[in-house]
Amino acid sequence: MKPLIVANWKMHFAPAKAKEVVLEILKLSEREKIDLQKVEIVLAPSFTALNEVAQALKDTTVKLGAQNCFWEEKGAFTGEISPSELQEIGVKYVIVGHSERRENLGETDEMIHKKIKTVLNLELAPILCVGETFEERQKGIKDYRLMAQATQAFEGLQIKPQDKIVIAYEPVWVIGSGQAVAKEEAQYTIEVLKQRMIDLFGVSLVKETTTFIYGGSVDESNIRDFVAFPSSGVLVGGASLKAERFVKLIKKIL
Ligand code: PGA
Repeated sequence: MKPLIVANWKMHFAPAKAKEVVLEILKLSEREKIDLQKVEIVLAPSFTALNEVAQALKDTTVKLGAQNCFWEEKGAFTGEISPSELQEIGVKYVIVGHSERRENLGETDEMIHKKIKTVLNLELAPILCVGETFEERQKGIKDYRLMAQATQAFEGLQIKPQDKIVIAYEPVWVIGSGQAVAKEEAQYTIEVLKQRMIDLFGVSLVKETTTFIYGGSVDESNIRDFVAFPSSGVLVGGASLKAERFVKLIKKIL
């Protein structure tokens, strides 16, 4: 299976700048002779930049991701964005439940469950983010919290063999800190999450549908630690914002 690298650009780039960074990534990859077909790369810009980025990615294997969506497809929901609107622009992956949304926007496990349901119904791939806060860790409830997040996101959904699901373990206290967790911890935690999904859906369905990745201060110096079984990829924030650095990071695992 190809390693997955998701670039979460958060609220950093307006459309023109996002396009500039995409074009630079493509140019540098070509110059460095990086075969982008060997990795599944997803770029997730702000909603306003999706169109520009979609245009720039035309005729490439790089996929378009969104950072969020609403849980209904249509209706009187002022200010929200429907996953079917995203699909029309060319979005393939949708990040759901990022800790910054859980924390700043009050996004609950129940909302996240509804979003995942709608995203899967449209045959888009959800990237569910789960992670413990520092306080939860201090209390010794890390694994419990993560299993609860995964359970509440997926329990009761009908998963089909053709569905594509990504679960990203992102320890909240590590995001943006410049210090990732040890690879052993990321691997152990992914095994815990995988077990939870197997309990819910069975081994073969999970094997067929679900990819587990790590996120939190991933950069060019540590990416290799996180792109090995059982983790099949990474979610990158800060280190994906400069084209040169991001291309360097991709190169590290090829
Ligand atoms: P970071 O962000 O790589 O800057 O830690 C990751 C994320 O928030 O998804």
